[in-house]
Amino acid sequence: MIDLRSDTVTKPTPAMREAMARAEVGDDVFGDDPTINRLQQVAAEMLGKEAAIFVPSGTMGNLTAVLAHCARGQEVLLGDESHIYHYEAGGVSALGGAVFHVLPTTSAGELPLDAVAAAVRPAYDAHAAPAGVICLENTHNRCGGVVVGLEYMAALKGWADERQVPVHLDGARVFNAAVALGVPVRAIADQVTSIQFCLSKGLGAPVGSLVAGPAAFIKRVHRLRKMVGGGMRQVGVVGAAGLIALTEMPQRLHEDHANARLLAEQLAALPQIDLDLASVQTNIIVFGLRNSPLTPEALVEAARERDVLLVPFKGRVRAVTHLDVSAADCRSAAAIISEIVQGSGVGDQGSGIRDH
Ligand SMILES: Cc1ncc(COP(=O)(O)O)c(C=O)c1O
Repeated sequence: MIDLRSDTVTKPTPAMREAMARAEVGDDVFGDDPTINRLQQVAAEMLGKEAAIFVPSGTMGNLTAVLAHCARGQEVLLGDESHIYHYEAGGVSALGGAVFHVLPTTSAGELPLDAVAAAVRPAYDAHAAPAGVICLENTHNRCGGVVVGLEYMAALKGWADERQVPVHLDGARVFNAAVALGVPVRAIADQVTSIQFCLSKGLGAPVGSLVAGPAAFIKRVHRLRKMVGGGMRQVGVVGAAGLIALTEMPQRLHEDHANARLLAEQLAALPQIDLDLASVQTNIIVFGLRNSPLTPEALVEAARERDVLLVPFKGRVRAVTHLDVSAADCRSAAAIISEIVQGSGVGDQGSGIRDH
């Protein structure tokens, strides 16, 4: 099976499993887990933030971070393509009473600065819900893993600082962004007030994310984490894998990016595939079909029958490279997709093919 559905599907490496078995643990609700304490300290140092806190998922990281910035009735300014808006069950509104103020997202994953400026309402106006936080995402999932540039982030942060509005980064894949930009991850984290990043995506850990930011903010996240049931006990058993993910895995992410490019180049050469190579900047490839009777769903199904797993995505198809797929896997996947779109790889029954 070549599983290109997401970089969340990776299994822990042998070194991670060994570290998990040997992990020193304690009750983390008492702050007593030495492995988690170390993980939080290393994360804060790498990101150049005062403090960091371990949470079980990226969704909980974003939820607690946004609510630590934003009181009930305040606005969360975020993009219409953002993960927080699309895929986190509206938790910020449902649980925290904050209001989503949705802004357009460019294909580069940015919120246009003039749209942000127009969205922050004047503080003196009693009709208006005040801005509580601005959220960015880097790399940007629904924009196809594109990297949001430092210059843009710095401009937004400068503008937001003047108005005392914090900026939160959903950095689920921020290490992929850092590799693509060729900068240390803290150069990205420096452009935001707070950041959430995932250990369990490209970095390959089985579980977990961290939120990092100012110490007083992390204290508020700590309380919110408890409130939503994210206070865990001897959680160093998973934190031990996270420490390996954080310290050893960023160095190999360029392989995932090279594999994505390899796959993308082979796909882009096919007349039935609509794929802009400039959009393939990290480990995510999103492509459409043209001059083909296949729907994205039919292609995904036909590929699954040949042990290549993809997902339909925004009327197109998504493939994501990661620790558990090799360059050879990407070549095989490209060959199988090529056979399918050229008509030789679809079952005789033609199931799922669009009826013209
Ligand atoms: C950009 C982004 N943010 C947040 C998350 C949420 O992470 P989790 O699945 O750990 O809740 C994801 C997961 O795919 C993501 O892609």
